[in-house]
Amino acid sequence: MPRLFITFEGGEGSGKSTQLARLARRLAARGIEPVMTREPGGTPLAEGIRSLLLDPARRPGATAEALMMQAARADLVATVIRPALDQGRVVLCDRYDDSTLAYQGAGRGLDDAMLRGWNRTATGGLVPDLTLLFDLDPAVGLARRAGAAGDTNRLDREPSAFHARVRERFLALAREAPARWRVLDATASPEAIEADVWRAVEPRLGG
Ligand code: TMP
Repeated sequence: MPRLFITFEGGEGSGKSTQLARLARRLAARGIEPVMTREPGGTPLAEGIRSLLLDPARRPGATAEALMMQAARADLVATVIRPALDQGRVVLCDRYDDSTLAYQGAGRGLDDAMLRGWNRTATGGLVPDLTLLFDLDPAVGLARRAGAAGDTNRLDREPSAFHARVRERFLALAREAPARWRVLDATASPEAIEADVWRAVEPRLGG
């Protein structure tokens, strides 16, 4: 089985979680059972942190928010992602440390170099093999999210300028490291996006 670490990034309502599930089905059809997880979350400890972080009733400052993301990340990487990769598994992660650079960096205005240092500490330097960016106008994503059955979380409620900065930072990160990133048009149909995802992933499966 190929050892492969794939992360899914994008704004709210970009369809990345749906595409993660679709990719898992395609992999299963090839006899590959991926480990699926998400950030913040993916372990009992990190899911607890997630519910605190996304609770609209709480108002953590930017630094507290960023450090809580890192605590959740450190637990997930150490107890789920690294062990799975060490066993040669494919890991699909819904968001990873690029989300911190986009949301806490561009969104909240925290220092980029500081956040990159914290990311390295939390991940032990583990970098994804492939990062898929589901790029979408944030107004469209937020409208989708509002129309969906699920409720909006604390970060969804940030002003549109916040979400615009997040989108631009993701695109800038993708330009910085084009070998790792694939930018996908998240306005296309789910079937077309699934095909784009597969075109990015299949060549990396080997054999
Ligand atoms: P999601 O699971 O719907 O994508 O929600 C997770 C939220 O957490 C989303 O609004 C983005 C935010 N987030 C950050 O602000 N920083 C991070 O490092 C991560 C992983 C997520």
